[in-house]
Amino acid sequence: EDRRIARVKELIKDYPDFPKPGILFRDIFPVLQDAKALRGLVDAIIDFIKAKCDGVEVIIGLDSRGFLFGPMISEALGISFVPIRKAGKLPGETYKVEYTLEYGTDKCEMQKESVKPGQKVVILDDLLATGGTMKAACELAEVAQAHVLCCVVVIELTDLQGRKRFKYPCHAFVQY
Ligand code: PRP
Ligand code: MG
Repeated sequence: EDRRIARVKELIKDYPDFPKPGILFRDIFPVLQDAKALRGLVDAIIDFIKAKCDGVEVIIGLDSRGFLFGPMISEALGISFVPIRKAGKLPGETYKVEYTLEYGTDKCEMQKESVKPGQKVVILDDLLATGGTMKAACELAEVAQAHVLCCVVVIELTDLQGRKRFKYPCHAFVQY
């Protein structure tokens, strides 16, 4: 058991009935309030990617909480960071996909040419719940002909079986 991840688990705060009745919200921001804990989490993610994602060239981070950690990791690895954003936020030519939410759908986008065909990518987000967001990100990476090595999340809500919605390996540091 990694001490750094044990500390992250201690700091994640639970909020019952947020944002709706029946939802147990896992808040990751207390980890960012603690510089040592944040350093530990980011280092643990970097260690995992170095060990398991050989040759990674791009970290793709998901809007918005995937942006909290993505550039810290890409910068340390000396590689590129590319955002996937909710629709209407990115200029220039983009690839777009629709994804399902609990109620209804949303769209997300990635800039064309931000990832080159054949590039090895890791897709990073804070949380895997239903997997709709990660599935859409995988589809965008595929449209760009990227080679997805792994999906990486800090927290996975395992009951929702989100990882079944995409075909790539997925690593989670904290599972509930
Ligand atoms: C949250 C979370 C993940 C996503 C997971 O993002 O940060 O990105 O939901 O849910 P899913 O697996 O069911 O798709 P949210 O869309 O709430 O926005 P935010 O990152 O901007 O806070
Ligand atoms: Mg998010």
